[in-house]
Amino acid sequence: MARQLSDQSNIMSNQSTGHDENVIETSLRPQVLADYIGQDKIKKELQVYIAAAKSREEALDHVLLYGPPGLGKTTLAMVITHEMGVNIKTTSGPAIEKPGDLVALLNELQAGDVLFIDEIHRLPKVVEEMLYSAMEDFYIDIVVGEGPTAHPVHFPLPPFTLIGATTRAGALSAPLRDRFGIVEHMAYYNATELNQIIMRSSRIFNVRIQDSGAHELALRSRGTPRIANRLLKRVRDFAQVAKKPAIDHEIVVKALKLLQVDNKGLDEVDRKMLMTMINFYHGGPVGVKTIAANIGEEVDTIEEMYEPYLLQIGFISRTPRGRMVTPAAYEHLGIEYHPQK
Ligand SMILES: Nc1ncnc2c1ncn2[C@@H]1O[C@H](COP(=O)(O)OP(=O)(O)OP(=O)(O)O)[C@@H](O)[C@H]1O
Ligand SMILES: [Mg+2]
Repeated sequence: MARQLSDQSNIMSNQSTGHDENVIETSLRPQVLADYIGQDKIKKELQVYIAAAKSREEALDHVLLYGPPGLGKTTLAMVITHEMGVNIKTTSGPAIEKPGDLVALLNELQAGDVLFIDEIHRLPKVVEEMLYSAMEDFYIDIVVGEGPTAHPVHFPLPPFTLIGATTRAGALSAPLRDRFGIVEHMAYYNATELNQIIMRSSRIFNVRIQDSGAHELALRSRGTPRIANRLLKRVRDFAQVAKKPAIDHEIVVKALKLLQVDNKGLDEVDRKMLMTMINFYHGGPVGVKTIAANIGEEVDTIEEMYEPYLLQIGFISRTPRGRMVTPAAYEHLGIEYHPQK
């Protein structure tokens, strides 16, 4: 079906026809701290550390960013790199299988460069141990050769900045965690910040959006920029097909109803999780493994993606005996609350 891009009544303006989706996707990521919305405490601190490191002409201290998925850890690593005016090498914990892989990466770094390791909690132990000296004193000791000819080689490195990102700071070993001078916890975004992100993304997508539409989307994005951007894209499709001149409140509500995202941003899995806890376990306490088995999701997925938000909005609570559904969640789901005797 032909796209209605030339139609002036459409939410998309003409210039957007030539845009490559990938280019748009990349341009969604802010490049400088000033464009990075929210996380004010982290930004303020980083501004100081970056300015200080630059004036001393040193590499920035190692940075650990942790928090739920989609809150902008990777984006922030790139922003830091850009602000420092250095280059970045990007990899992930599971991609560095053996010490040789790490050596190859470190070997390419220039003084001041950033090595970004995503999912750093998934680094193999041998690689992690090698990182200790690399981070602390900028050298690695490697064994070259095999059998009787094997000999250790002391390999100095340029001063560099390791930026590690993880959704599970608790899964990081203490020796590794302690080697990061800057440790930042990424918090969920509030509705005002998400609103700003949605307005910014709409400008980049070149779609018109009314304040009421942006506001409703912000409320339903689970405090997460990635979700805000994803919902914005879907709603844009609905608005386009409905030939709306702009994304308005009505189309947001209609689209999100079809997408089964409710007015608190809960999706099918959230609701399934809460309903299982309520229907089969009287609202808990129930262990996360039991919940996972019941709803057919991984324990990790529940712990990293679903639970943190439900805890944040006060829909579940953690007790020593497991998770419990709170009265607020019962009310949201329209179920009468009968606490267990
Ligand atoms: N502070 C922000 N301001 C504007 N947009 C943001 C911000 N943070 C994140 N985004 C947007 O959200 C998307 C997801 O961010 P990002 O990939 O950095 O998250 P992440 O924390 O690395 O997620 P994961 O844990 O899954 O790796 C990005 O594409 C970016 O466009
Ligand atoms: Mg990331």
